[in-house]
Amino acid sequence: MAEAKIIARNLTKRYGTYTAVEGLNLTVHAGEIFGLLGPNGAGKTTSIEMMEGIRRPDAGTCTICGFDSITQSAGVRERIGLTLQAASMPETARVSELLELYASLYPNPARPGDLLQQFNLVEKARSTAKSLSGGQRQRLSLALALVGRPEVLFLDEPTTGLDPQARHSLWDVIRGLKAEGRAVIMSTHYMEEAEKLCDRVAIMDHGKILAEGTPRELVREFGPEAAIEIDVTGFPVNMAEIAQLSAVTGVQTEDHLLVLRTANTAASLMAFAGYAQANHIPLGELRTRSATMEDVFMALTGRRLRD
Ligand SMILES: Nc1ncnc2c1ncn2[C@@H]1O[C@H](COP(=O)(O)OP(=O)(O)OP(=O)(O)O)[C@@H](O)[C@H]1O
Ligand SMILES: [Mg+2]
Repeated sequence: MAEAKIIARNLTKRYGTYTAVEGLNLTVHAGEIFGLLGPNGAGKTTSIEMMEGIRRPDAGTCTICGFDSITQSAGVRERIGLTLQAASMPETARVSELLELYASLYPNPARPGDLLQQFNLVEKARSTAKSLSGGQRQRLSLALALVGRPEVLFLDEPTTGLDPQARHSLWDVIRGLKAEGRAVIMSTHYMEEAEKLCDRVAIMDHGKILAEGTPRELVREFGPEAAIEIDVTGFPVNMAEIAQLSAVTGVQTEDHLLVLRTANTAASLMAFAGYAQANHIPLGELRTRSATMEDVFMALTGRRLRD
């Protein structure tokens, strides 16, 4: 197992009588992308800022590369890079000037020219921060977070507001950070991002982690079973016989659709194809549906988290 870089234990934050984060536990390892997935107000930013040492918890502790976020904040600062949800920058400074300025703050900084290349900002080097598009700004934010060659990255909603193309290109950058062995924790409210980009995901709601695991584990544990939907308009089907087919766990009809719940999509598909042939049922429209993170979120919270 790779080295644990972020260890949060029982982190708790209250505002008056309101508990924004309650008893947060998580561990993130080198070479891992960990996602905090939750709706507005779930407590993602509060959690991240407590881990970074920016916000003081009412209870609990966090260590980053072995340094305590509160009592050893200098050690923590040297090892982390962060992007804020609402990044403010000196708006009239130029992109290259900002990178140079940040570089001057570190003993062994990454080269600004390399970061411009890596983040596809070479053409914008002379542009002012305020003239950048949303996606360019997010990339600059991430480039600035990397100037100090951090082992650990905290990215608070790094892809919010980006178009799909810009989002996918940022995913590639984040995957590159993982490949370099850095630990990445990021918040998101995009289901697809949690599912495709993150190695492990914690689903947060009302200040608590409701479930944690790889996207696959979460779908397996909390998602509904997969289903096969077949249009059988005009063909009487014997529900009892179909219920006996391989791996089928339930059968129902919805309008003209026959819906088979299955523990093994491939096995049930094969079995149904054989059944259909033997009984002269033409295979018209047929679709398979597997559980997604959206289903998991729904199962855990009773609500949808719309992208
Ligand atoms: N300084 C503060 N004073 C009082 N309440 C706060 C403060 N900061 C955050 N909160 C409350 O704590 C809760 C969690 O906020 P937080 O910013 O951590 O949520 P989030 O998951 O990051 O949401 P979003 O997706 O909107 O960024 C919210 O209900 C918020 O109103
Ligand atoms: Mg937030």
